[in-house]
Amino acid sequence: MMKFQGITGSFTEANAEALAVAVFKGEKVSDRALKDLDKLTNGLVSSIIKTEEFKGDAGQLALLRFAPAGNVKASRLLLVGVGDEGDYKAPSVALLAGTATRYFRKLNVKSIALLPRGKSSAAEVAQHAVQGSITSQFELDKYKTKDKDDKKVNTLIVCIDGAKPADLKTGISRGQAIGESINFTRDLANEPPNILTPTEMAKRAQAMSRDVGLKCEILDEAKMTKLGMGSLMSVSQGSSQSAKMIIVSYTPTKSTGKKGDLLALVGKGITFDTGGISIKPAEGMDAMKYDMSGGATVLGAMRAIAKLKPSIPVMGVVAAVENMPDGNASRPSDVVTAMNGKTIEILNTDAEGRLILADAVAYAERQGATRIVDMATLTGAVIIALGDINTGIMGNDQAFVDEIVDCGKEAGENFWQLPVSLEYSKQIKSDIADIKNIGPRGKAGTIMGAVFIQEFVDKAKWAHLDIAGTAWSDSVKPHQAKGPTGVAIRTLLKLVERSQ
Ligand code: BES
Ligand code: MN
Ligand code: ZN
Repeated sequence: MMKFQGITGSFTEANAEALAVAVFKGEKVSDRALKDLDKLTNGLVSSIIKTEEFKGDAGQLALLRFAPAGNVKASRLLLVGVGDEGDYKAPSVALLAGTATRYFRKLNVKSIALLPRGKSSAAEVAQHAVQGSITSQFELDKYKTKDKDDKKVNTLIVCIDGAKPADLKTGISRGQAIGESINFTRDLANEPPNILTPTEMAKRAQAMSRDVGLKCEILDEAKMTKLGMGSLMSVSQGSSQSAKMIIVSYTPTKSTGKKGDLLALVGKGITFDTGGISIKPAEGMDAMKYDMSGGATVLGAMRAIAKLKPSIPVMGVVAAVENMPDGNASRPSDVVTAMNGKTIEILNTDAEGRLILADAVAYAERQGATRIVDMATLTGAVIIALGDINTGIMGNDQAFVDEIVDCGKEAGENFWQLPVSLEYSKQIKSDIADIKNIGPRGKAGTIMGAVFIQEFVDKAKWAHLDIAGTAWSDSVKPHQAKGPTGVAIRTLLKLVERSQ
């Protein structure tokens, strides 16, 4: 576990092996922090900035070595370009901190003093610095017995000259809660499917809930059958693993939100997606261990909520199911009945995410949810449309969608809305049942998934986040390992914060 410290005076008070500072595009050595760093390095900072070898473009790095002087024991300074000062918002600090942490980690540096600078509030800056540093050290090496990436930075000192100590303290503890929760989600998403079965996912949710003080209830298959969740159960019936519905609840000691309002976060927790009888090709099927990322996001967000203690209640619902093809598996052309009484013709058993979410959102609303956000690695089509940059967002209430997109902007996560008009809903009418689980071949695949789930929401405001493209990163970034990203957690936390 990393240690964190805040310094509200000069960075020279920090006892760290290395320093890292944000440098804006085209700036001169004019503010106190840069001037002090320039003095400390005998003019190296101003000379490298003057010669235009270092322009401060976002992502540009320069390492300076100097002889430690006075109280300062550090002998390295990393200049981190952060681009235009006007674009430098609180989430940029997370990238800065993550980049510096990963950079120095490789050099076997254990402690860093970070000067994030910028105009955001001290608490926000500290929060993002700590969160970015924690998430930057997540690695995929859990199951390696050798060659582990075990060089880790263990101390980050956040230096914000003139900040109130209490603000730094708050920011640091919030950053820790959020960073660790994002990594909790990423660890789940990275687990192999033989280990993270639906039962194991439920166990991890229970252990996490005990840890942070959430209520956790698990519905087994008998209970779900009794509740009439025929849609979800049809996906599970081809697997020897039994499905679990995981319900975690956070109740504030004193509520300030709108009376009767209950926000529910609902996640797709397909622990492995073979496609079922509509089986996927062998090539790339291994990626489908991440098909429970939506569920993992819900659990990580709930973990953070328990630690941040907002003043509104939040419920998390995860449908944990394995999609396998065996002799009991559902067939293309089967008809099933969901919890809300609607009948579904299953025309493709690989469109299983919407089948489990149908019962999960209906259940959330039955439990009193008035606002529902569902998260799912639902369609390959969203990857074609938006790549790994934007999460697709759709919903039945424009103001609610707008608010989430806006929370994303503040949190540093990108969302792009797709339409869900009645014309699309008509395209999932079935010849023999109420609806079918796929639309016309090759047409608006992401929207078809959304309008399907929409059929199971009654009066609640609802938004659907298709994270298939953004939940996993295929390449390593300066601030982040490749693999699961924990996308959407920071946006959801903003939404909760704003709803208080
Ligand atoms: N889990 C997949 C979505 C997916 C596919 C994510 C490829 C990442 C890469 C989902 O269950 C699925 O199989 N969706 C189908 C829907 C289709 C059968 C209508 C898809 O996108 O191909
Ligand atoms: Mn599928
Ligand atoms: Zn799937």
